[in-house]
Amino acid sequence: MLSLSEYAIEINGLVKKFGDLTAVNGVNLRIKKGEIFGLLGPNGAGKSTTINMLLGLLAPTSGKISVNGIDMLKNPERAKGQIGIVTQETVVEPELTAEDNLMIFGRLYQIPADELRKDIDFALKLSDLESFRKAYAGTFSGGMKRRLETAKALMHAPQILLLDEPTTGLDVQNRTKIWELLRKINKEDNVTILMTTQYLEEADQLCNRIAIIDHGKLIALGTPSELRQKIGMSTILEVSGDKEMLPKIAQMFRKAGLEPQTLTNKVLASAGSKPVEKIEKILKLLSASKIDVRNVSLHEPTIDDVFLKLTGSEVRDETGSFKGGRGMIMRRG
Ligand SMILES: Nc1ncnc2c1ncn2[C@@H]1O[C@H](COP(=O)(O)OP(=O)(O)O)[C@@H](O)[C@H]1O
Ligand SMILES: [Mg+2]
Repeated sequence: MLSLSEYAIEINGLVKKFGDLTAVNGVNLRIKKGEIFGLLGPNGAGKSTTINMLLGLLAPTSGKISVNGIDMLKNPERAKGQIGIVTQETVVEPELTAEDNLMIFGRLYQIPADELRKDIDFALKLSDLESFRKAYAGTFSGGMKRRLETAKALMHAPQILLLDEPTTGLDVQNRTKIWELLRKINKEDNVTILMTTQYLEEADQLCNRIAIIDHGKLIALGTPSELRQKIGMSTILEVSGDKEMLPKIAQMFRKAGLEPQTLTNKVLASAGSKPVEKIEKILKLLSASKIDVRNVSLHEPTIDDVFLKLTGSEVRDETGSFKGGRGMIMRRG
């Protein structure tokens, strides 16, 4: 049946509570057909919980979900049928070959035998695993497993593909391969993609639009360039040093015409359009006033920088400690 909705996915007032914890807290989101949409957030932000409700694996505490105009709560089977899925955990069977992994999945979806042959060939080609057809999936690298899973999810030709952190933990090469695969199916087969990620760079490069999620709430939404403007994502200049030195370092930032933000063990600022000039200036000022520092650097903004800008505090992981174990705990705004 033709669906009239221009949206692949519509989420209204979605809430999920686990006891006292509100993991998803009133999310509204509309994902257009043909879009690559990124849900960007740190560990524990509520990304997987959102995805699991979209898949009908978790029941929302409240709120509405529709997929291609089909109500997930009223018509769960039909709604689910529109979606292919790559979950956060790897689900390939290690003791089966690539081909047999796909075969089992195809049978699960009751794909007729003659079609299944073709689908398997297609999936292996798509994931660039043709030459590993007979190899055991258990011997694959993380990236190969991910590619196999992605291709598998596409075997029943879904219009929408959900991927939960498809590239977390992968090396750059495998990450790039997954990106290529996603771009290809989006462009050639017009598959709508909703993916979650912890990597700002990934969302920026791959997605048409990005929603940033923190503590179960959307805190920003837009195209990468809209977000870049909003957040001022220019190169970041960062100077770290002993705590007592930080006010002095911040002073030097101001002298150099930068707007410093002081964290637990460093001072940083957007370096604007001429980052090299700024770092030269800072180095001169620091050495002239004999301020001891540990590290001076320029880097592209990461999710940590975006969060700092949006929430005024550093990204915390679920255990309450900073990612990378930097310093004391700061409350988020
Ligand atoms: N089944 C569950 N029971 C209780 N708490 C959960 C459950 N699943 C997730 N949570 C909690 O909900 C919050 C969001 O988790 P999750 O959606 O997995 O975040 P993300 O995928 O963004 O890392 C976290 O604080 C997590 O501990
Ligand atoms: Mg998750």
